[in-house]
Amino acid sequence: MKEFVKWIEDNNKDYEKYMQLTDSLDDFLRNYVIIDEDVVHGIFSNLINVLANCDEISYEEQGMEYAYVILHFIERYRRFQKIIMFLLREGVLRLKDVYRFLDIGTGPAPAIFAFSDIVSCFNEYNSTKESVEFLPDYVELSHSFRHWLHHFVEFLWVKHGPDSYNVPFHHGTFLDYEKIEFNEVSFSFHINGQEFTQYRKSPLKHRYNTIFFSNFLTTGDTVDRFESQIIETAKWALNDSIIAVIGAPGSKSNKYKEVYDRVDELLNNRRLGNYKFIAHSYKVTMPQEEFYFDYSDKFGVRLKEFYKSILIHCGTFTDLDKYPKEKNLFNSVIDESYAKVNTWQVNVYKKHSRLRRGIHGGRTQRHITDSSQHQST
Ligand SMILES: C[S@@+](CC[C@H](N)C(=O)[O-])C[C@H]1O[C@@H](n2cnc3c(N)ncnc32)[C@H](O)[C@@H]1O
Repeated sequence: MKEFVKWIEDNNKDYEKYMQLTDSLDDFLRNYVIIDEDVVHGIFSNLINVLANCDEISYEEQGMEYAYVILHFIERYRRFQKIIMFLLREGVLRLKDVYRFLDIGTGPAPAIFAFSDIVSCFNEYNSTKESVEFLPDYVELSHSFRHWLHHFVEFLWVKHGPDSYNVPFHHGTFLDYEKIEFNEVSFSFHINGQEFTQYRKSPLKHRYNTIFFSNFLTTGDTVDRFESQIIETAKWALNDSIIAVIGAPGSKSNKYKEVYDRVDELLNNRRLGNYKFIAHSYKVTMPQEEFYFDYSDKFGVRLKEFYKSILIHCGTFTDLDKYPKEKNLFNSVIDESYAKVNTWQVNVYKKHSRLRRGIHGGRTQRHITDSSQHQST
């Protein structure tokens, strides 16, 4: 995939996609979202909170999702473009006929948008051959983000066509990661006169081969809290899956170092098999784990223009001097001399699995007596 990534860079495809998304977001926010003083108040009263406590808040308060989108969406979209291109270039993420992608803690889905755009670039690059399929899904607890996605994707489809962005228009499958079920049990009901019968249906199996924890595991405690779900996620991942954990660099933050160490304990060299499969996961050694967003390159310059446009637009509804800290925050980033570099880290685990020999005669006695092995895939 090295040649493909080179083709993207030589033809500025990543920048083209970045520009289209940024222009569209600017249009959507100014013409459909920020339409009165109340919305401006919702955004400005949440900006500092979103910046300082983005991993603690619930994103259900009015305006919080918009504040997050304005501050983080475009910068993070670029993060994921860089991550996906890097993983493809290094052969960590291999070419697949179908990417069954799960984004955990998707928020406004910068990871899904970036992946969708890269797959669409690949299909353009490879136009004489069969298209690669991208099947995205997500886990997101905040209804505000789920609604945001619903409306923004609808807007994008009207503006750029229904094939432009392959991002779940109808809400993603999972709400709370704590309650995630990769084998979803459901029932059907039959009423006949006075008789009511309940049937257990065959479990709906949710399976993925590319899984991102995108700025979701932010403290060692979060990893502990979701320990069993993280293991389940790896256990039900398909053969040759990758699981990427993305967050701030562990070299600069003890909090994140703890996250990565804890995830390593869970997923590095872990046996994940059951009575049908031999499976394990391991950490991939990569030449680079840290990445950066540079406010002084052309991507950064466009982001500054976007902030400026939103600031000016908000100022048409109310006097922004009411929010001095927030206004200063925008003004300092918009300044031409602002050249901050944001860094982040990616750790990747691979999962391999293969069928055990001789399982096709049904379960052996050993499997029937050991309840921990009773998982079919
Ligand atoms: C820091 S944001 C990351 C958003 C996005 N992935 C990004 O990279 O910008 C964390 C997200 O996880 C979601 N979240 C928090 N707890 C959750 C849970 N138990 N289940 C699902 N989503 C959760 C939050 O609502 C929020 O959207």
